[in-house]
Amino acid sequence: MTTRVGIIGAGWMGVTHAQAWQNNVPRGEIVAVADVSEARARDVSERFAGGRARLHPDLEALLGDPAVEAVDICLPHHLHRPSILAAAAAGKHVLCEKPLCLSLAEAREIKSAIDESGITFMSAHNQLFTPSLVEARQLLAEGTLGKTYLARSTEAGRNTGFKTGQPPVALAPGASSWSWRLDKMQTGGGEVLDTGWHGAYRLLALADSRPVEVTAMLANFYLPELEGEDTGVVLVRFESGMIGLLVTSWAFPNAPDGWSFQVSAERGSIAGHARKLVHAPYGQPAPAERTFEPVHTFTREVTHFLDVIQAGEPGQATWEHAARVLQVILGAYTAAAERRTVALPEDPTELG
Ligand SMILES: NC(=O)c1ccc[n+]([C@@H]2O[C@H](COP(=O)([O-])OP(=O)(O)OC[C@H]3O[C@@H](n4cnc5c(N)ncnc54)[C@H](O)[C@@H]3O)[C@@H](O)[C@H]2O)c1
Repeated sequence: MTTRVGIIGAGWMGVTHAQAWQNNVPRGEIVAVADVSEARARDVSERFAGGRARLHPDLEALLGDPAVEAVDICLPHHLHRPSILAAAAAGKHVLCEKPLCLSLAEAREIKSAIDESGITFMSAHNQLFTPSLVEARQLLAEGTLGKTYLARSTEAGRNTGFKTGQPPVALAPGASSWSWRLDKMQTGGGEVLDTGWHGAYRLLALADSRPVEVTAMLANFYLPELEGEDTGVVLVRFESGMIGLLVTSWAFPNAPDGWSFQVSAERGSIAGHARKLVHAPYGQPAPAERTFEPVHTFTREVTHFLDVIQAGEPGQATWEHAARVLQVILGAYTAAAERRTVALPEDPTELG
């Protein structure tokens, strides 16, 4: 079975997702690409679809293409909501880059559109497929560590792109990947809603429990040209009692230990990053270590999307997951602005 996809947005993520789709041939096939820059759309078609994908100037034209069964949305943040709504109305399955959208009201609209159309929606949470995280979640689910007390999730890197204007990957002519990120109307916030989204869904995946309250401090240390923050420290309490800490930044890289996540629990602790997972049961002389070859998490994300569409597997990054991430981050923004702790109701589209 082959799912025919149209990629909308042929910039940094458009190129990266196109590579992932190509790696999933023959289960997936890129049949159309849309971008306001025709050069970019053509470049993606030539590099990842043998030049056979049809080129479209915009989403509407791509959605009118009868060959397209699913869309992969790789557009700036303010375009996520209208693109998801239009794709759902056209009956196309949706894989959409993070964040889900810009507000909880938008999230509600998206939920209605998904429910009414019956399409499959998946948020592009590629780092869920990092092997160390997959294994850590398994260990936690088996109860090996006992009750979890604290989870830390770090997503940080010194972002020189805004200073140098360099594209993050080789791109055909078109707008800079950094230009729209300077504008809060297009990003919906700052670093926390952008790169911090990865750290937030990782924290929620480790917690496997509903977040119930959040507080945060934001700062801008390095990128005064940004309207929003370049750094966020977010504290979350979960229904299970676990406390979560998200540290995310474009001002500084991860600490020298490089851990993307650390969990302290009743019977031991774990720490992981892209290449390693360490499990230290308390009272044992040496921790157990596993190393991993680097994987292209975007390829695994597309494989999972295909598993959901083609084989009916349960989705790991559904609207429910993405809306919960949005609730935590927008709750963190409110908490920082009002210098308080914000309650997170059971309905992910509400804030206390
Ligand atoms: N998962 C990750 O690691 C990761 C990394 C980077 C970006 N992202 C996400 O990917 C999305 C895109 O970011 P990016 O860095 O690829 O941006 P980008 O600027 O590199 O690419 C966006 C592309 O969309 C095109 N575009 C803009 N408006 C359009 C319109 N109305 N119609 C058609 N095309 C249009 C632009 O010409 C550009 O080619 C964002 O949601 C971002 O948060 C995710």
